[in-house]
Amino acid sequence: MAVTRTPLIAGNWKMNLDHLQTVALVQKLHWTLRDAGHESDSVEVAVFPPFTDLRTAQTLIDADKIPFALGAQDISTHDSGAYTGEVSGTFLAKLDCRYVIIGHSERREYHAETDEVVAAKVQAAVKHGLVPVVCVGETAEDLEKFGASAVPAGQLEIALAGLPADADVVVAYEPVWAIGSGQAATPAQAQEVCAKLREVVARVVGEEAGVRTRVLYGGSVKSANIASFMREPDVDGALVGGASLVADEFAAIIRYQKHVGV
Ligand code: PGA
Repeated sequence: MAVTRTPLIAGNWKMNLDHLQTVALVQKLHWTLRDAGHESDSVEVAVFPPFTDLRTAQTLIDADKIPFALGAQDISTHDSGAYTGEVSGTFLAKLDCRYVIIGHSERREYHAETDEVVAAKVQAAVKHGLVPVVCVGETAEDLEKFGASAVPAGQLEIALAGLPADADVVVAYEPVWAIGSGQAATPAQAQEVCAKLREVVARVVGEEAGVRTRVLYGGSVKSANIASFMREPDVDGALVGGASLVADEFAAIIRYQKHVGV
């Protein structure tokens, strides 16, 4: 089954930048790409600001016709009700969010999110027409004990269970030891695990979903290493943390196709 998967470069801002800084970064990124003659059809760009910045980002993207997709960093398993501090997928959809990050290792670690909670959030996202960006990855200890792919494959299997065959999802392979450490996985490691994760999508959701679903690599991605990941056949993009907060650097990541030797 031949298919072209549009590469996705996603910027996870984590808990950084207020709504005024959001305007500055989104505009600077847009102008930098425009001035460089970037063709927006070649790579999909998505930004994931904090909840409090989403309305600002939505308004700016809409007013200036900026070709970026918008995403949130988390979603409630519930639709509405007495859940103080939670944010419903209904609200995110109303803000034109296309994506939502689910199961990031920081939420698994600091908010005790289990695989079951992650699975419920995936269901909530799909219910509200949002595309879940399902994050999976092994810790350094897991890597030593079980190798690279066993833990992320197991996490993904639970997260995707029960999804319909036409579900639109994105998978992000993020080794926990590579996040924010400056120590990225090697392209070969990323390829090996991303290929295994694609097999899980094919088995759990369906063969066609396995072919069309984009699998991203995340963990210390920067302009100096992005092209080496994107050369791998099963890596369809990147989930970028720290480097997505600097307009010039994130623009250079988005323009990986122009890097020498690609
Ligand atoms: P990093 O974060 O690029 O800063 O390593 C990636 C992530 O956590 O999504």
